[in-house]
Amino acid sequence: MNDEDAVMRVEGLTAGYGGPPIIEGVSIKAFRGAITAIVGPNGAGKSTLLKTVAGLIRPSAGKIFVQDKEITGLPAEALVRRGIAYVPQVENVFPDLTIRENLDMGGYVRKSGIRERIDQLFELFPDLKASSQRRASTLSGGQRTMLALARGLMVDPAVLILDEPSVGLSPRFQALIWERIEQIRATNVSIIIVEQNTRETLRHAQRAYVLVLGKNRLEGTGRELLEDPEVVQLYVGRLS
Ligand SMILES: Nc1ncnc2c1ncn2[C@@H]1O[C@H](COP(=O)(O)OP(=O)(O)OP(=O)(O)O)[C@@H](O)[C@H]1O
Ligand SMILES: [Mg+2]
Repeated sequence: MNDEDAVMRVEGLTAGYGGPPIIEGVSIKAFRGAITAIVGPNGAGKSTLLKTVAGLIRPSAGKIFVQDKEITGLPAEALVRRGIAYVPQVENVFPDLTIRENLDMGGYVRKSGIRERIDQLFELFPDLKASSQRRASTLSGGQRTMLALARGLMVDPAVLILDEPSVGLSPRFQALIWERIEQIRATNVSIIIVEQNTRETLRHAQRAYVLVLGKNRLEGTGRELLEDPEVVQLYVGRLS
């Protein structure tokens, strides 16, 4: 994975909510067809990093590049048009709309091909197809997460940003979500993901970053970090 091949490059990003910075000087890279994991303790600034990269928070320093074009400071909607899809930790679907309506809305920046794209996504998410006229509010947590993923994919993103997609779900659904994420990765999308289950996340990650107190702490392949003594001690537990 050469630097030139990075779909997204984040350099020295500093951002917060008006008070002292929550993330400071953070740098990450994400590659096509690869999963990039951001792990670290609660409150480390993982969600803040994702929100900044997705254009919801304006950084006070640092740069973000997508395919070598600088996008720093552009609002979220402009980033969607440049192929950045962000699925937040909460409130990631419209509860009063049906599955199909949610997908229609997700495709709002497409000029054409909304129906075709929905059909493609229904192949990847057959359960959504079966209940396409159901309101999102009536779905189980797992189904809702699937809908949120599908909604993010409506724009054919180059980079899909996922904040804890499997939070609160049963192990069965967590496994299913990883299966879908791997299928999405296989279509050459670059995935940047934050997840609670550090061991499982690192197993899937071609590249991973440990964030502590808003700063880069460690980086490597998922496998390398799984064997890093600090990571094992703090986040993974004994690998017996
Ligand atoms: N909207 C906000 N306004 C002010 N401070 C915030 C806001 N959101 C988060 N913070 C603060 O920023 C810090 C980092 O939060 P963030 O949500 O980025 O961490 P995280 O690594 O995603 O944590 P978790 O693992 O719990 O999801 C925390 O101290 C939090 O209180
Ligand atoms: Mg978070």
